[in-house]
Amino acid sequence: MAIRLAIIGGTGVYDPKMLDAMQTMEVETRYGRALLTQGEYQGHEVVFLARHGTEHGTPPHKVNYRANIAALVKLGVTRVVATAAVGSLNEKMPPGTMVLLSQFLDFTKAREATFFSGGDAGVIHTDFTEPYCADLNATLVAAAKNADFEILTGATYVTTEGPRFETPAEIRMYKLLGGDLVGMTNVPEVVLAREAGLCYSTVALSTNFAAGISPTVLTHNEVLAVMAENVEKVRRLLMEAIPSLRMERDCRCRELGSSILL
Ligand code: HPA
Repeated sequence: MAIRLAIIGGTGVYDPKMLDAMQTMEVETRYGRALLTQGEYQGHEVVFLARHGTEHGTPPHKVNYRANIAALVKLGVTRVVATAAVGSLNEKMPPGTMVLLSQFLDFTKAREATFFSGGDAGVIHTDFTEPYCADLNATLVAAAKNADFEILTGATYVTTEGPRFETPAEIRMYKLLGGDLVGMTNVPEVVLAREAGLCYSTVALSTNFAAGISPTVLTHNEVLAVMAENVEKVRRLLMEAIPSLRMERDCRCRELGSSILL
C-alpha cells in the first residue's frame, strides 16, 4: 500500500467515515503531540486529522499547526488536502459553493507560523509565488468533473486571527485588497506544509456571505449547518480524487520546501 495522503478536516469535517481499517494514534513531535486517524481507501494509505479536535474543542488561534504538520511528515505523508469552512466576499461564491484556493492574504497576529525560527532550524525564506500545489489542485478539479460537482478555482483566501468574526469595515477592506473568501486557519497551515515540502491544497466550502454582505448576523451554528448540508459533497470529492493520485510527484513542492528538523 502506498500514497500517504492526509486529509485535514476543518469545521464540520470531524469524521474520516470513508476510510477502512481505521486506527487512531498520537504522534509526538518536538512541537507537541498530534492526534490522528490512519486508515485506507482503495489501497491508498490515508491519514485524517481533525484540525479543531474531534469535538471542535480547539479554536483557530490555539491549533498547534506545527505539531500537526510535523506529525504528518513523521508519518511519511507527502500530500495534504485540507477542508475549510469560509465566509464569502465574492457574490460568485455564495453559500454552498466549493472553491479551491490559489492565493492567500495573511492577517494573523500571534501564531507560530514557521519551522524556521533560527537556531538549529536555521533561517530560511521560502518561495510562496504559488502557495497551493497546482498538480493537487488539478487532481481535485478532475475529480470534481468526474463526480459532476461544480468547483470554482483561483480564490484568494484572507486569514484572520479570530476567533471573532470580522467587522463589515474589515470585510470591505479585504475585498478592496482582492480577497474572495475569509477564514481563520489556512495560515499558518499552508505555510508550514510548504516549508516541509508537502503538496497542499484546500477545498473551501462557502458557508455564509461575510459580515456586512450577509443581511443577518453571523453565528457558528449557521456555519455548522451549511457545512453539514455540504459535507457529503466534500467527502465524495475526496473519494473520487484519492484513487487518481500517483506515487510520484511532478510538482516543485518538495524542492521549494527544505529539509527540516522534526
Ligand atoms: N469569517 C471567518 N471565518 C469563517 C466565516 C466568516 O465569515 N465563515 C466560516 N468561517
